[in-house]
Amino acid sequence: MSEACPVGADELWPLEARVQHTLRTDDASALTVLGYGEISSVLLLEGAAGRFAAKRLPRFDGAERVARFSLLLDEYLAALRAAAVTPVESWLVDLPQGDGTRIVYIVQPLLDPAGLAPKRLHALAERPAGDAEVARCIDAIVAATVRCVSGTVGLDAQLSNWVFVGEELKYLDVTTPLLNDEHGTTRLDTDLFLASLPALLRWPVKRFVLPDILARYHDRRRALRDLVANLHKERLAARVPELLARCNRDLPGAPLTEAECRKDYQSDASTWALLQTLRRWDRSWQRQVRRRVYPFLLPGSIER
Ligand SMILES: Nc1ncnc2c1ncn2[C@@H]1O[C@H](COP(=O)(O)OP(=O)(O)OP(=O)(O)O)[C@@H](O)[C@H]1O
Ligand SMILES: [Mg+2]
Repeated sequence: MSEACPVGADELWPLEARVQHTLRTDDASALTVLGYGEISSVLLLEGAAGRFAAKRLPRFDGAERVARFSLLLDEYLAALRAAAVTPVESWLVDLPQGDGTRIVYIVQPLLDPAGLAPKRLHALAERPAGDAEVARCIDAIVAATVRCVSGTVGLDAQLSNWVFVGEELKYLDVTTPLLNDEHGTTRLDTDLFLASLPALLRWPVKRFVLPDILARYHDRRRALRDLVANLHKERLAARVPELLARCNRDLPGAPLTEAECRKDYQSDASTWALLQTLRRWDRSWQRQVRRRVYPFLLPGSIER
């Protein structure tokens, strides 16, 4: 990664202590959550060098696994740059635990919320169809997606993963480095992320659900369909026709339609909703029956 991480591990330990407190007590008052993704939670970190976003990953079982993930992350950031997609500056910090496991955070500069793509488009909500500024935002995201997505490099094009820093578009969701090998097999350590599911379900999800979830990030049409469909979740459905028209300029074959995107959205939303429900059940089981601390911060109900 480019420059040295501006946040030391000594600054992340207190944040992790607050996370552990929240996991033990369910009292989240000591944490500022910037966003819950489907997998990681994004927390505010006030550091000596400024304010940062700290993205907490699932627990790693040892240093070697962290090293492999770190290399893949570096390679992913380089692959994005090679496709002229600028990732938000990102650093990996790991916190060795007493039992040999590692807690890993991806640290990024705290972004101005007004630049986040959903916010930016909401701020332009009153602009009529065809407005130049709206078109510029949409064009930047679609063009970056088309440049980057391939059989080997993947990207989640949804609006919530993009930010405008000044006029420059950047990609912020780098916690799951989406790289495939030459056979189209993911190089991501998927077991790490599957660990956030109830044990009984990990194998079936890995076998039957995950390949399709990952494939959509490596296929231009599907990545763009996801971006269009996601406007519903962002309450920006009025922009669907403009976005569709822009996507179709770069898609060969039959034009993408609103109906196709909506269908995709409904199936995607129900997959994620089901996974979240299962995680909440698992949390209750772990806490009430096994008397264990459930190790993940889960979002409350997500409006889809
Ligand atoms: N550097 C940042 N500064 C401010 N807010 C951020 C930053 N990074 C992320 N966020 C907020 O948190 C949300 C989720 O972030 P991100 O996409 O990285 O995580 P994610 O969706 O959980 O990723 P995944 O699902 O792949 O684990 C973003 O949409 C944004 O609102
Ligand atoms: Mg995201």
